[in-house]
Amino acid sequence: MKNIQGYQDQFGELTTLISVPERGKFGNANYRGNYAGEVLAKLVRFLQANGIQRPYIYDPMVGGGTSRDVAAALQLPHIVDDIHNGFDVVNDDFHDSGFDLTMLHYPYWKMIDYAADLPKELQGKDMSRMEWREFIEAVSHVNYKAAAHSRYVAVLVGDMAVKGGIKSIQREMAWPGQPVRHIIKVQHNAMSYRKQYTGKFIPIVTEHLLLFRTDYRQGGEMWILVPAQYKKIDIDAYVTWKTAVKNVIKQLGEITPATVFEGIKQRFPVKLQKTNTPEATIRKTLQQLEADGSIRRTTRGIYEVA
Ligand SMILES: C[S@@+](CC[C@H](N)C(=O)[O-])C[C@H]1O[C@@H](n2cnc3c(N)ncnc32)[C@H](O)[C@@H]1O
Repeated sequence: MKNIQGYQDQFGELTTLISVPERGKFGNANYRGNYAGEVLAKLVRFLQANGIQRPYIYDPMVGGGTSRDVAAALQLPHIVDDIHNGFDVVNDDFHDSGFDLTMLHYPYWKMIDYAADLPKELQGKDMSRMEWREFIEAVSHVNYKAAAHSRYVAVLVGDMAVKGGIKSIQREMAWPGQPVRHIIKVQHNAMSYRKQYTGKFIPIVTEHLLLFRTDYRQGGEMWILVPAQYKKIDIDAYVTWKTAVKNVIKQLGEITPATVFEGIKQRFPVKLQKTNTPEATIRKTLQQLEADGSIRRTTRGIYEVA
């Protein structure tokens, strides 16, 4: 890792690769899912270098207090809160507007249950207990709210391993404003490091820090990138007849429209669903492949690979 340019401050304060191995003195080190204060300090120094001398900081999910301690140490104006104080970032109003930086370190969804020690009425509001769809919509909603209250918005989120793959908050959430940078942050205390894997699982050892600039002015316009959506695609539109026929003829001893038709029926049945004239399409495709020089005609209607 040491040889990677831009890693460990070789390029100055902030690059697109962050690693803070020592979590430092800010916040409660034992709070589950806490982050190293130096990450926020880097963002603050970036804002200062860009002319915001005393950024006004907001962290509505402050957990163990990392952002609060960094802002206090740097003598910056700040407001912090958390569901543990009874404040619900999704449904309650933000405490002020005109923030320079809002830090959004969302719960790692169901990986950590933050609500266990909360009174019953607040448990249902803990974002980590929401169903995935509801959670992503809540994250997007809070991102919009942050954009409407803050010049910059930083979002720190991980990918969660689930059966068969990952759930990726940053991929599915709405992006509030102009993305300034997508920074990869090394996770030094991830659960993945503690478990023994046999090589059939890819441990997740990084997370995402996204910095957005909103530059919202009262009365101005606000543009956001809407969340990703699952969509069924039409395979037929992406596998052309030429590709399908080329693939089929590799396996054929004798290449004729009839044998190719049988091959297509076996291997690419989807190609036959949208045509009433498959024989004509196959003949035309064979002629195209002949013109390309991929196959040549031996006798009428019979081809061989060139
Ligand atoms: C990843 S932790 C933040 C950790 C913090 N940055 C630190 O360094 O300790 C996410 C926090 O979101 C809080 N949270 C969950 N649902 C919330 C809600 N609806 N409103 C406000 N805070 C919430 C949890 O209590 C937890 O402290």
